[in-house]
Amino acid sequence: MNLTFYGHACFSVEIKGLTLLFDPFISPNPMAKGIDIEQIKPDYLLVSHGHADHIADLIPIAQSSGATVICAWEIHEWLQEQGITNTLPMNTGGKKACSFGTVKCVVAQHSSSLPDGRYAGNPLGFVITSSEGNFYYSGDTALTLDMQLISQYTSLDMAILPIGDQFTMGVEDAILAANFVNCKTIVGVHYNTFEPIEIDTLQAQEAFAAKGIKLWLPAIGTRLEINDLKN
Ligand code: NI
Ligand code: MN
Repeated sequence: MNLTFYGHACFSVEIKGLTLLFDPFISPNPMAKGIDIEQIKPDYLLVSHGHADHIADLIPIAQSSGATVICAWEIHEWLQEQGITNTLPMNTGGKKACSFGTVKCVVAQHSSSLPDGRYAGNPLGFVITSSEGNFYYSGDTALTLDMQLISQYTSLDMAILPIGDQFTMGVEDAILAANFVNCKTIVGVHYNTFEPIEIDTLQAQEAFAAKGIKLWLPAIGTRLEINDLKN
């Protein structure tokens, strides 16, 4: 299992030769201008919610790759209207077996609408389990006590959490989230893309380290081998 970071809250995870791409927002992100979306050919596209900074490149990548889009029911309905028919609609609490392993949708405390203002259903977090490892992507969310449930059914190898504050958890709450899900390998996302979510990254890593948690902040385009991270 490995993770490639594409900027903001977009990353892919490769499991058993299959690529799962999360929250595609690349072409509008000046920090990710070195990434060519034509080169990204996921097998699955997972969408946490409908905000533009999570779906900007969803339709072109879904079209060019034919990937299965895993998303809330309401986003699935919207995609059907755009001609994207290979979807797996889900909702909070639901779990599904897929070729990479299983995906479970968990609570995210946020909002969710599509760029035209249309209601986009519940925002979602995802818990992925597989024979190569397990991880949690919280999506955009506040810290919530519901996160404590995740460690009841899954032993996580990594968690991908927002740390930029203002619209989501900041560093302080993300440290508590890491403890709630019982995971000491965290990949920070949703920071520094825009002025309101700029943070001091060194200070963030020191704050996590002080609690015995490793905060990875991979450069855009970098691939991390997850088993190496735990050593
Ligand atoms: Ni959002
Ligand atoms: Mn966002």
